[in-house]
Amino acid sequence: MARFDNKVVFLTGGATGIGRATALAFAHEGARVAVCDVAEAQAQETVKLITDAGGTALFIKTNVASASEVESAVQRTVAEFGGLHIGINNAGIEGSRDKATHDYDEATFRRVIDVNLTGVFLCMKYQIQAMRESKAGGVIVNTASFLGHFGMQFHLAYVTAKHGVMGMTRAAALEYARSGIRINAICPGFIDTPMTAARNEKDQQIMDRYYAAIPAKRVGQPDDIAKAILFLASEDAGYVYGQGMIVDGGMSAM
Ligand SMILES: NC(=O)c1ccc[n+]([C@@H]2O[C@H](COP(=O)([O-])OP(=O)(O)OC[C@H]3O[C@@H](n4cnc5c(N)ncnc54)[C@H](O)[C@@H]3O)[C@@H](O)[C@H]2O)c1
Repeated sequence: MARFDNKVVFLTGGATGIGRATALAFAHEGARVAVCDVAEAQAQETVKLITDAGGTALFIKTNVASASEVESAVQRTVAEFGGLHIGINNAGIEGSRDKATHDYDEATFRRVIDVNLTGVFLCMKYQIQAMRESKAGGVIVNTASFLGHFGMQFHLAYVTAKHGVMGMTRAAALEYARSGIRINAICPGFIDTPMTAARNEKDQQIMDRYYAAIPAKRVGQPDDIAKAILFLASEDAGYVYGQGMIVDGGMSAM
């Protein structure tokens, strides 16, 4: 038996980066995965990588900031795969990473909160409804960030949203601990994905300075985070509730 045989995973942000690596890892360990994302071509590629390797996956075009799209994506997952056991709420955007608060664009702020915070709320809401209906319990892992625990200058909306994801994770974990739904967050450090790709030379210099400070002496890879997410979703983490597990190559230990 593989670790996630007979499990159905609803995963957001699976088109690239951490989400793609996590979708592949779940499928490799037996799960059927609904890959929910706005980026259709890349998410279809994730599905193809899974099916080509003999796994089962389905793409559902979903904007996590839309309640109706999230609700129908959850319903479709249950209809196609016969249930929902694991929710991985990972979709996210970065906003600006070079603007001080007095200069931060309001529309960008609202968009980051919509996707990174309201999006996680909406996914949890409809996933939990499905899990309660099935009476089979479930597991949810939200992607926060080490910036859900610490501040970072010039990154206001993102840091705010990720602190919010930590708050939501703790509050919801307490609400459902007694009903068999276990909720945690993963908090990656700097991971090499499209999100952290340098936007120009100055940006590259800033990122290089951050990377040089990582105690593990390397930038994290999507698989580093996928492995930790699968642990949190597995029976091995059966007594872990409401935590934000930091996986950052040791940065936050400094
Ligand atoms: N890369 C890092 O260093 C790092 C560090 C900490 C936390 N994170 C978090 O990890 C998660 C994944 O990020 P990543 O680094 O893999 O970046 P990424 O840009 O590769 O992945 C983000 C994914 O979210 C999807 N997405 C964006 N807006 C969406 C929306 N409205 N609805 C549905 N899907 C949407 C994108 O299409 C993409 O597939 C994010 O929540 C991010 O904040 C990343």
